[in-house]
Amino acid sequence: MNEINSSPQREKWCGHEFLFKFRGFWFTQIYLEATKRVVETFKPLPGDVILASFPKTGTTWLKALLHSIIHPSPCHANHPLTLNHPHQLIPSLETDLYIEKWREVGGIGSTRTPQFPVVKDPEKARILSTHLPYQILGDILDSSDCKIVYVTRNPKDTLVSLWHFMQKSSVVEKDEWEMEVAVDQFCRGVVPFGPYYDHVLAYRQERFNRPEKVYFLTYEELKENPKFHVRKLGEFLGCPFDQSENGEEKIDEIVKMCSFETLSSQQVNKSNELPNVFPLPYSAFFRKGEVGDHKNYLEHKMITKIDGVTREKFHACGYMY
Ligand code: A3P
Repeated sequence: MNEINSSPQREKWCGHEFLFKFRGFWFTQIYLEATKRVVETFKPLPGDVILASFPKTGTTWLKALLHSIIHPSPCHANHPLTLNHPHQLIPSLETDLYIEKWREVGGIGSTRTPQFPVVKDPEKARILSTHLPYQILGDILDSSDCKIVYVTRNPKDTLVSLWHFMQKSSVVEKDEWEMEVAVDQFCRGVVPFGPYYDHVLAYRQERFNRPEKVYFLTYEELKENPKFHVRKLGEFLGCPFDQSENGEEKIDEIVKMCSFETLSSQQVNKSNELPNVFPLPYSAFFRKGEVGDHKNYLEHKMITKIDGVTREKFHACGYMY
């Protein structure tokens, strides 16, 4: 039996959910199946832009920013971000394109061909996102001249954001996911797409190996200086903003349009409807959008525990996050 078909190691996660181990990382059953399909069939095109991230680190924000940088649109009522949730503009490989959309095609077990976004202008890139770690997707990403943008976030805020996200899910309705348990699982790496630390370190290493291919940024850096990163991302993606007042204005508009305040107040992002397959409404992707919110939820001993793992995993590799 080959690796793709063999029975993986499993561990109880939260509520009635189990996680399954594949190539050193943990997945829910449905995302594991989709991940295997990605590994078997996905071929990036040379111009693709791949937004990679660990869940809850700022993916939605980056989707809005990348779309606005690559497909600039004047701010008006029909702006793509007023009509669509960022996840509708940029599909994810394993949680969207390669998943069995059972609600759509009628029954688990159905398969379908991934519907990639059609880019009419050959000069424009196709933007796709993924939570898959470089350890699993790396060879595939290296097989083409695609570019990778990776966003990460402080581990404590990432965990707290994940915990809140799961509180909105039916998974924890009958079986509470206690914060202490969540901290322990996060530290051991047993969360979807975890271990978080290995995920971050591999993409960070690739940024050092090939800075022309990988742009690595943190949620906190983006909060601190969004204009700087929008300009840098424009250069990295081959669609630079000019240095004139006009270029500055365009950057200002993008930063404003993609801000937490603007996006979270759009009707489409307030919707409580369930998108296909995904168990949570789009509104769940906008909560507080702040740095340091973990202080309001983690007890001292939990902070000490996560900080200890951060020192062991990140600081030992010279990453002082
Ligand atoms: P909080 O739960 O801390 O508020 P992801 O998109 O990777 O799932 O990450 C979700 C986190 O990013 C949530 O964090 C969410 O509120 C925050 N977020 C979403 N859109 C944002 C934006 N435009 N600016 C800043 N933060 C944003």
